[in-house]
Amino acid sequence: MWPGVIERYRAWLPVSEHTPVVTLREGNTPLVEAPGLLGRGKTLWLKFEGLNPTGSFKDRGMTLAVSKAKEAGARTVICASTGNTSAAAAAYAARAGMTCVVVIPDGRIAVGKLAQALAHGARVVALAGNFDEALAHVRALAEQHPALALVNSVNPFRLEGQKTAAFEIVDALGHAPTHLALPVGNAGNITAYGMGFRAYRDAGRIPALPRLLGFQAAGAAPLVLGHPVEHPETVATAIRIGRPASGERALAAVAESGGRVEAVTDAEILDAYRRLATTVGILAEPASCAAVAGVLKLEREGYFAAGDEVVVVLTGHGLKDPDTARAVSGVEPIRASSRAEIEALLELATPS
Ligand code: F0G
Repeated sequence: MWPGVIERYRAWLPVSEHTPVVTLREGNTPLVEAPGLLGRGKTLWLKFEGLNPTGSFKDRGMTLAVSKAKEAGARTVICASTGNTSAAAAAYAARAGMTCVVVIPDGRIAVGKLAQALAHGARVVALAGNFDEALAHVRALAEQHPALALVNSVNPFRLEGQKTAAFEIVDALGHAPTHLALPVGNAGNITAYGMGFRAYRDAGRIPALPRLLGFQAAGAAPLVLGHPVEHPETVATAIRIGRPASGERALAAVAESGGRVEAVTDAEILDAYRRLATTVGILAEPASCAAVAGVLKLEREGYFAAGDEVVVVLTGHGLKDPDTARAVSGVEPIRASSRAEIEALLELATPS
């Protein structure tokens, strides 16, 4: 049985036999083929991280961060979040018997993520301010109050846990892909993938690093612009971030891999969302679709060559954000009160 990422990759992680493992058996997410999105001779895989226990990749980092917080004797975890980190922190804190405090930008997180944090019993603070301000507050609070364990990705255990996704991809394919594409917000996850691939390369498991392709939303693209964005805006609320905490490390990992960081517009993100939902059969949240949009854009520009194998990380499940799902479909249910009405709507002939 799959034991969760700590037990599966214990030798690669900073845990000991004294670490109390807090797990929901996260990880082991599938690589789903997406035929037809890239041209002939190229392969596209979707690493569907939305199938983790709380519906996003955050569970990989949270199992380690909460286990280490518990090992250190902490009773309360705290984080700022655009939604998914708070959902994961709330769930793993519940599992660990710990208290969880989350600070979110008021009115700017997807409804499913808010519902998760509340349902798992977290104390949810809706801040009049954006994610960057929320993160600055919780970092300062965690410094002043040693009883609070900060579980944002500035906590090094988060990235250690998240790097296991890179291991899984190589272990599943039997080799490294040529490219790894993912959305970038606070820039922790792309840094974690860089760490994971580097660890496997240094251990001789893969000959070279995949090129890391990071995509930001055009209205929240500090790493593309080269400076912080004061008022980030995008439909992809998960990555509505103007001052990425791990920005410099992320850019270093991208450069080392020979990859790039680019921006995609909200229109491109929603186009990719629709295409994924209606032709591939996968609902991924808007932030995840930024990576799909980015790969489609690079494909149009002729960036990929025959033989390339691209893995796109779908970081969160589309059910997290049902408001966007409904808005994107653009239609309402058709009302009916009888079988005849249904048949008429289906334009079926009434049997004689
Ligand atoms: N995709 C999703 C679905 C996310 O929730 C996030 C980040 C990212 C991509 C970007 O990852 O920050 O490591 O570059 N969500 C954080 C949160 C900020 O609070 O849930 P990153």
